[in-house]
Amino acid sequence: MNDFVFQNPTRFYFGRKQLQHITDELMGAKTVMIAYGGGSVKKTGLYDRIAALVEGVGARVVEFGGIMGNPTWTKVEEGAALANDEGVDFILGVGGGSVMDCTKAISLAARQDNAWKKHWVRFEPIIVDPIPHGFVVTCAGTGSEGNGGAVITNEKTHVKTGKDYPELNARFAILEPELTFTVPREQTIAGSYDILSHLMEIYFSEPVGDALADNLLEAAMRTVIKSLEVVLEKPEDYQARANLMWASSLAENRILKCGKNGLFQVHMIEHQIGAYTDCVHGFGLAAIQAPYYRFIKVTSALMTWQLRRFAINVWGINPEGKADIDIAIEGIDALQAWTEKVGAYRTLGELGVTEDMIPKIARSTTILPMKFCKLNSDDIEILLEQCL
Ligand code: NZQ
Ligand code: ZN
Repeated sequence: MNDFVFQNPTRFYFGRKQLQHITDELMGAKTVMIAYGGGSVKKTGLYDRIAALVEGVGARVVEFGGIMGNPTWTKVEEGAALANDEGVDFILGVGGGSVMDCTKAISLAARQDNAWKKHWVRFEPIIVDPIPHGFVVTCAGTGSEGNGGAVITNEKTHVKTGKDYPELNARFAILEPELTFTVPREQTIAGSYDILSHLMEIYFSEPVGDALADNLLEAAMRTVIKSLEVVLEKPEDYQARANLMWASSLAENRILKCGKNGLFQVHMIEHQIGAYTDCVHGFGLAAIQAPYYRFIKVTSALMTWQLRRFAINVWGINPEGKADIDIAIEGIDALQAWTEKVGAYRTLGELGVTEDMIPKIARSTTILPMKFCKLNSDDIEILLEQCL
């Protein structure tokens, strides 16, 4: 197990009727920006309920809507300018990963000049106090509510990136599984695949072995697989929605990464696919995750060993009388079959990737220092070609 420091300052309110905690959390705030996405919060009435709670503590509401999937730096700048013009002293992000990431980025960009260059290109330490912020989470997937990562797309340079800064953790996150009952089927699938992908990325990072994290990750993966299947049949199944929501937070609130490197190479590739195509994050992952494991398994005995364990403990593959490599391949096959069964799989072509984009995506992908699978840009290009 690697050495680690664990810190998570966010307060999580989980369960039924948690929304009212906004009142305690916002006590003393004067001007609260409510940031949201394309309007689902207006349709469901959630926006009005939250605005009433904010006004109930005597604060003025500043509305900032229209945050798109894969939020852009232009949108961040727009929000930061509004926050400064209106003297916002708290930002409440209401939505999924895109809203939460944009909120975090606004909170920093409002206080820091040249924030993109400093914190999304050079990843310098944060030396200002970002505007305090909190979240009401409306869909499971990214787990952004539990970390300080703000994944933003610079549409001019075709770079989608973000770093986990503890200074950008939310003060609080409200997680009411019932709020996710209305999430559209496609987003439920994409979000759930994203959770599974986070768990797999941690699981397949070093060191591999019989660490507590690996055992917890297997249990979480099985839970996500089962819960998505239930939700696809019964979108209002509380237990399954609650499992997805908490698994989403757990996967990305740093705790399951303790003792592991947690290097997210599939995510690095997907982010650049997203930067070029604006595809839905979970579907970008689903297009390449199983092919990625198929691609790298031959390069490392350790990877084969972990894939074997994944096959047996997550997918229930019977190992008897089989070589390790064959069990590993059966696990990858099971992942791919499930990806297709739940409707998460699309080819890269279906996601908008064209031949001419492939070298650009490959060359702009950050390659992480993983010992047991050394990749280079040419490898990524081959992988992307295979997934087209
Ligand atoms: O925009 P509205 O109208 O609100 O609709 C949203 C949006 O279309 C809809 N939705 C959400 N809750 C709903 C609902 N519709 C009805 N009822 C509800 N209760 O679902 C969609 C959600 O979109 P989005 O926020 O883009 O999805 P997601 O949560 O998957 O976030 C994706 C973004 O997060 C980044 C991704 O790269 C992508 O940009 N990530 C952030 C991470 C982090 N900060 O930790 C980690 C992830 O790996 C990821 O990179
Ligand atoms: Zn993700």
